[in-house]
Amino acid sequence: MQTETEDQPAPPQKRKAYKGIAMEGFIAKWYAKTTRNSIDEYRAWAKIASDHASRGSSILEVAPGPGYLSIELAKLGNYEITGLDISKTFVKIASEKALAAGVHVNFRQGDAAYMPFPDGSFDFAICTSAFKNFPEPVRVLDEIFRVLKSSGNAVIIDLRKDASKAEIDQYVERLKLNPINAFMTKFIFKHTLLKSAHTKSEIQEFAAKSRFGSCNIQSDDLALEIWLRK
Ligand SMILES: C[S@@+](CC[C@H](N)C(=O)[O-])C[C@H]1O[C@@H](n2cnc3c(N)ncnc32)[C@H](O)[C@@H]1O
Repeated sequence: MQTETEDQPAPPQKRKAYKGIAMEGFIAKWYAKTTRNSIDEYRAWAKIASDHASRGSSILEVAPGPGYLSIELAKLGNYEITGLDISKTFVKIASEKALAAGVHVNFRQGDAAYMPFPDGSFDFAICTSAFKNFPEPVRVLDEIFRVLKSSGNAVIIDLRKDASKAEIDQYVERLKLNPINAFMTKFIFKHTLLKSAHTKSEIQEFAAKSRFGSCNIQSDDLALEIWLRK
C-alpha cells in the first residue's frame, strides 16, 4: 500500500499551478455567489457522475471551486466524495457549504497536476469548467489516470474554444444574473475564458499524449464533454 506522500514527486519550486489570476479572496467569493445561479447545471453534472458511479464508490472532483457539484452529488447517494482545489478560499467556502447542506465531502487543498492521493484511489473522476485553467493539461490527465482504479472513468466538461459570442450571450441570459454580474460574466467569457479554452482536436491530442491514450468527446452549445477510461 503506497502512502500519500512517498509515491508522488513534489511540484517544482516556483511553478505556477494555474493560468491567469489566483481564485482566492474576493474573486473566489464573487465566483461562488455568481455561480449559485447555475445550480441546475451543477445538479445535471452531479447526475452524470451518479449515473456512472455505483453507490458507495469513491469519486474525485478535480478543481471543485465552491463545491456545488460535489454537494449536489452527495445528496444523490452514499458516495465517498473528495474535492481537490488549489484555492484555499474555495476549500473553506466549499467545506462550509457542505456543512450547511448537511452532507460530507472531503474538500482539500492541492494541485491537480501533483495530486496528494495514492494510485488507484477513485472509481470515478469529474472536472467541470477548470481544465482550461491547467498549465500542464497532459500532466493533469496523467494524474487522473494514476489515481483512478483500473477500469475507472473520468469526465471533463469545459468551454469549447469555438463557442460563438451569441452562444455565450444566450447562456449568460439564462442565468438571470443582475446586470452588473451579467456584464462581467460575458466579459470574462469572451476576453479570458475563450482565450484559454481548448478545441476538440487539442483535447484529442492531449488525451493521445496522456496515459489514457484516447478519449471520446461530445459537444453541446457551449461545452465539450470529454470521456476517459483507464
Ligand atoms: C472556473 S473555476 C471552476 C470551479 C468549478 N469546477 C465549477 O464548475 O464551478 C476553476 C477552478 O480550478 C481551480 N484550479 C486551477 N488550477 C488548479 C490546479 N492546478 N489544481 C487544482 N485546482 C485548480 C481553481 O482554484 C478554481 O476552483
